[in-house]
Amino acid sequence: MRSVLDILDLSVEELEELIAVAEDIIADPKKYSEACHGKKLATLFFEPSTRTRLSFEAAMYELGGHVLSVAGADSSSAAKGESVADTAKTISCYADIIAMRHPKEGAPLVAAMNASIPVINAGDGGHNHPTQTLADLLTIHREKGSLSNMTVGFCGDLKFGRTVHSLINALSRYEGIKFVLISPEELKVPDYVIQDVLEKKDLEYVQTTDLLEVMPELDILYMTRVQRERFFNEEDYLRLKDSYILTPEKLKTAKESLSILHPLPRVNEISVAIDKDPRACYFKQVLNGKYMRMALILKLLGIKV
Ligand code: NCD
Repeated sequence: MRSVLDILDLSVEELEELIAVAEDIIADPKKYSEACHGKKLATLFFEPSTRTRLSFEAAMYELGGHVLSVAGADSSSAAKGESVADTAKTISCYADIIAMRHPKEGAPLVAAMNASIPVINAGDGGHNHPTQTLADLLTIHREKGSLSNMTVGFCGDLKFGRTVHSLINALSRYEGIKFVLISPEELKVPDYVIQDVLEKKDLEYVQTTDLLEVMPELDILYMTRVQRERFFNEEDYLRLKDSYILTPEKLKTAKESLSILHPLPRVNEISVAIDKDPRACYFKQVLNGKYMRMALILKLLGIKV
């Protein structure tokens, strides 16, 4: 059973194929409106979510399928102490595919090992978030026309930000990407990402605490929220939360062609004044996420339109 737990579970060719399907859906959504007729997606979300859960659900509805939903650990048997393995076996009796978000790293992997239907990781702790990466890749591809030869700045909480880890992994397979990692000392990209991805593949990267210094060279700026829920103490969170706030003033030295991405939710990392700037792509990114999830659901269910 094919599951997607990590962005590297999809080859570069498969990513291209998903982008092509998403573009085809955008061009002709009607063609896909009954593609998943009679199929059911279960969304199991044991952590807060607005975009990811609703975009999976909107994706399935727009494919003509149905949705079964568990939103929050409190409302499911997890609250009674049921294991992820047993939950996965149970859901396999009702649905055709599962999208799961869980605070524990690796929980979707355990679900995939026990389910008899495909499992999609919709975010596991501070680890991975492959379908956000699909949204990011389609956005970059639409804005830049390719996924190669660009300087990509990641800014904010690079330690706990799972979307950052997945996007670095994804972009590590394309030519000519320079990674600029901008964070406070305490929130640097984890060593395993530096060593197993950037160093291992001999990719060009720099680490800095200074966003302004690197701003002029960036083609993409990927802003992130400081992940309060993964901090061990509130004091550290309060000290670090406003490390980078993007304002029109700070964009003065940025390229005209810069694309600003953010997986959202935004707390205050990007001033709302920037929303009107043509370089702001974060709400397009939300929409792109729905199209890529539609393409992924079709692929994992083996449905060709
Ligand atoms: C992200 C997540 O859940 O990791 N949100 C999302 O799915 N778009 C980013 C975040 O919560 O900061």
